[in-house]
Amino acid sequence: MNDLANVLNPIETARGLPGRCYTERPAFEEERRELFGRGWFCAAFASDIAAPGDLMPVDAAGLALLLVRAEDGGVRCFHNVCRHRGVRLVEKPARGAKAVRCPYHSWTYDLEGQLRATPHIGGVDRHEAPGFRKSEHGLAPVRAGVWLDMVFVDPSGAAPALEDWLAPLLERWRHFPLGRYRPAEAEPIRFRLGANWKLAVENYCEAYHLPWIHPELNRISPLADHYPIVDAAFSGQGSHCYAARGELPAADDRPLAEYVALYPNLLLGAHMDHFFAMRLDPLAPDLTVEDARLWCLDDAAAAPAWAGARARLRARWEDVFREDIGIVERMQQGRGSPAFDGGCFSPVMDGPNHAFHRWAALRAGGADPA
Ligand code: FES
Ligand SMILES: [Fe+2]
Repeated sequence: MNDLANVLNPIETARGLPGRCYTERPAFEEERRELFGRGWFCAAFASDIAAPGDLMPVDAAGLALLLVRAEDGGVRCFHNVCRHRGVRLVEKPARGAKAVRCPYHSWTYDLEGQLRATPHIGGVDRHEAPGFRKSEHGLAPVRAGVWLDMVFVDPSGAAPALEDWLAPLLERWRHFPLGRYRPAEAEPIRFRLGANWKLAVENYCEAYHLPWIHPELNRISPLADHYPIVDAAFSGQGSHCYAARGELPAADDRPLAEYVALYPNLLLGAHMDHFFAMRLDPLAPDLTVEDARLWCLDDAAAAPAWAGARARLRARWEDVFREDIGIVERMQQGRGSPAFDGGCFSPVMDGPNHAFHRWAALRAGGADPA
């Protein structure tokens, strides 16, 4: 659309995405197709379906998905809809299931999505029907992969391989102890945000607001020590002088921290002693669920000796994330104003934020920004 063209200008003259992209249902549905539907996004955390037979329905970006931990320990993803009359198959998470049975006519699928039972399909007590092949009516699969406990799905099935898509980020983060991060035993941090999901991304992409919204964080990771990060599939900022508390074991004592939004919906934070990921689930144009998890190094992720340090770390991040809620919701409120023209960007402070706007505008316009 025309009002997206200005987003692509050089940052000095660029406008941000217009208000309709944050408030209107058609734009929301276009995003579901173009921003979430055409590549990888994070749909869940794998440890929520830890054991074979664990099932979890996920409504990610309006797509009804079913995640399954298969017998071989792998994660599978299917569209959560019965191939018979289209009932939504699984409503609640379940543990230890051997199969997925539709409640309507009891058609039953195995954990690989194969249709195994079709009771009375050919008449009473006839469980086969002439010409009906079960092999043609399995659950519709969705391409899925896991990195660091994050389940990524590609509804299009046409994106590059997950490893290739992640490669630039993994290369950038080769100095962080990616291979030693383990999901930490800590409660998830969850918020309901009364704002469009993109505002959570945009807020995350910038350090500019640190002194005013996060004065405490700004003391250990000051604005002056931040640098911008911009790449094709992610942007954010890093800090040369993250003064870690030193309570948890660290890979080394370099005071590095980097915070990037991996487009579209994942907010990541890498440190020498821990990692976090916040998944954004867009429920409506003005409603987003945030679900964040922590990782620590090796034994520190689960050992009782580190339980107190993990709890303090979790509480610290929960406080920081909470500090953003009110101001992000106020950005949403501002987007209803007829005077809002997309806003503008600081040429120095807002580069990573503008990069996300460009990515979204190009995708919404049908282009492949990568
Ligand atoms: S709709 Fe699922 S078995 Fe009929
Ligand atoms: Fe913030």
